Amino acid sequence: MNNVDKKMKDIKIKDISNNDIQYYQNKLFEKFSLSNNEERFERYQHSIGVMKKALELVDLYNLPISKEKVQIAAILHDYAKFLSNEEFENIVLKHGLPMDILETSPKVWHALLGRWAVEEELDIHDEEILSAIEFHTTGKKEMTPLEEIIFLSDYIEENRQGKNYEKVRNIANKDYKKAIAIMLEDTISYVRSRSLPLHPLTLEAYEYYKSFKKETNGKLEQILETIDRNLVTDVVIYDVTNNSPLCDYIIVATSLSLPQMNAAINYLRDDFVLRGVEQGSGWTLIDFGDIVLHLFLKEDRELYGLDRLYVNVPKLNNK
Ligand SMILES: [Fe+2]
Ligand SMILES: [Fe+2]
Repeated sequence: MNNVDKKMKDIKIKDISNNDIQYYQNKLFEKFSLSNNEERFERYQHSIGVMKKALELVDLYNLPISKEKVQIAAILHDYAKFLSNEEFENIVLKHGLPMDILETSPKVWHALLGRWAVEEELDIHDEEILSAIEFHTTGKKEMTPLEEIIFLSDYIEENRQGKNYEKVRNIANKDYKKAIAIMLEDTISYVRSRSLPLHPLTLEAYEYYKSFKKETNGKLEQILETIDRNLVTDVVIYDVTNNSPLCDYIIVATSLSLPQMNAAINYLRDDFVLRGVEQGSGWTLIDFGDIVLHLFLKEDRELYGLDRLYVNVPKLNNK
């Protein structure tokens, strides 16, 4: 076993008991071992990083996707990374695919054509898994949750280092569709700045996902409207976009009474998908992901002094 193979073997995945996942991890190892490419250790490490990130996102957003499929798609998404040009051409010919695939950037071949290698060599025929592999580089409009999670995790797994990755990683903790929009925006501007060819699917994906960039502002307005109907005063919105990796806005407001506070919470539960609600005797914290709302009774607001904590944070408006 040479050094690179040894390094690859040394990466253990904790908490994976499923035999299938281990089986496909071994298959990836075998496939990469056939190549002499210098990058193969990093690519192997990256594949495991994508799997960890994808599972983390599925848990965070409680997405209705099979965890087994997430792991298999993640571990195999770059399976065809080191195929030769001849092997890619053979896939196109064998499956009667349009020859113009080979006229696109070679960087996307391992994805668009990789699904066929996975299907043929590993006997995987699950369309959800195969299409997540197929579109993990270009993206496309209206992706399935599995396609979205693999596409995003490929960009933000822990081994990707750099300011842009870090930025998208933070946004993904708050709103993963918005993270996809920002990721596409960054990718397009990178490709254009280097006059590289941009895949039409990527542009279509951006046209579709860019609307999610604005979602936070629309949500903020809806939350304000809802609490306004339930008699709150002294509403302050702190803009922590640049201060917190956890959320973009913190709303602090005073409820006139406990029944009013509970009514507001009930309305919010009906209108939004809440990440969590915590309640004390005179306060409630409602976590919307990208927005956190604190409701207090008047004396509790003074007691906890949350506003004093945010004294240096920019306010969005104050009514
Ligand atoms: Fe890839
Ligand atoms: Fe990848």
